[in-house]
Amino acid sequence: MSSKDSKQPYGFHTLAVHKGYEPDSQTGSLALPIHQTSTFVFPSAEVGGKRFAGEEAGYVYSRLGNPTVAALEEKVAALEKGEKALAFASGMAAISAILLGLVRSGDHILCSRGLYGCTFGFLSILKDKFNVDYTLCDMRDEESVTSSIQKNTKVIYIETPMNPTMQIIDLTMIGRIGKEHQITTVVDNTFMSPYLQRPLEYGCDVVVHSATKYLGGHGDLIAGIAVGKEDFLEEIRFTTLKDIGGILAPFDAFLLVRGIKTLGVRMDRHCQNALEVASFLENHPKVTNVMYPGLKSFPQHELAKKQMDGFGGLISFELKDGLEAGLSMMNKLELLKRAVSLGDVDSLIQHPASMTHSVVPKEERIKMGIADGLIRLSVGIENVEDIINDVQQALS
Ligand SMILES: Cc1ncc(COP(=O)(O)O)c(C=O)c1O
Repeated sequence: MSSKDSKQPYGFHTLAVHKGYEPDSQTGSLALPIHQTSTFVFPSAEVGGKRFAGEEAGYVYSRLGNPTVAALEEKVAALEKGEKALAFASGMAAISAILLGLVRSGDHILCSRGLYGCTFGFLSILKDKFNVDYTLCDMRDEESVTSSIQKNTKVIYIETPMNPTMQIIDLTMIGRIGKEHQITTVVDNTFMSPYLQRPLEYGCDVVVHSATKYLGGHGDLIAGIAVGKEDFLEEIRFTTLKDIGGILAPFDAFLLVRGIKTLGVRMDRHCQNALEVASFLENHPKVTNVMYPGLKSFPQHELAKKQMDGFGGLISFELKDGLEAGLSMMNKLELLKRAVSLGDVDSLIQHPASMTHSVVPKEERIKMGIADGLIRLSVGIENVEDIINDVQQALS
């Protein structure tokens, strides 16, 4: 499937496998070629000039675009149902380039109370050095969102489910509020992947991903992607992507394209395994406060069912005996790996207060619902009985 749109409305798995690349006519290579080149030769000086002026299509220099990266972008745009996608060197490169592209000194960003630690860190840089203010608010409640909007609010930025408390924000509500107040809405969709949730369908404007996670899926790369309207992303390409330079390397784009081909089948397995592990944890006498949107006891289970096509692979929980018991349990695990990151085929477990969210001041972290003893488990695609047995032995 090349850039020409198929007349047939292909399904998610078909697009995940084929979209963005047609075996090339010269060699017939089934796999996407890695265009490992920094620059592109112009057939004539005049053509070079025209490409620079944007008067003729064609590649110029890999910081401005590369065919392997373009294949990835086309695939992700189709999966997220967006006009265009733009790849970055990391999730943080995507988030920072999008936010920098949307604000200027004196503006304000309204954020969900519950953000990935480095996103919070970047907001602090914007505030301290560039006079761009932010407010964190509880976006589960419409009144709290609308009353936090200021005259200079240019962006509403959310994660849903939130990292790591799994609280959910109503995407329809956020899309509507954004339109009513002419504020750009940006959604970090890392926890869900486009297989489980497509925020643009709910009226939100921009989706960002740490593609390091479910999109890549194998723990072997760092990457980011943003998806949205073509005009906006082309503007980003030629400003905060080109001029700051956080571009994705062709080899990493190749790995991502390969990983995305199995995104749907991996996600089905992540969801299935996570629900079983969450139910096991919920019934374990030493465990308290299991946060997984797929559990009937999860306070926002109905909203999760409404906007998510599955409940994902992430579970947060606490142990009755608190932090020490949690850390000791983590140290006893034999199969599950103690590591940050998530969305890999391998099950990974981490302690947000001392790891992913350690940059967030304690007072703010507690307001986000991240208690000292909270543990986050990214459930992999191993045999679920092996995952449960490992947690069981570590708890006993
Ligand atoms: C929800 C979320 N957003 C963004 C990021 C940043 O992504 P990256 O590590 O690819 O820069 C992470 C990383 O863990 C994350 O969990």
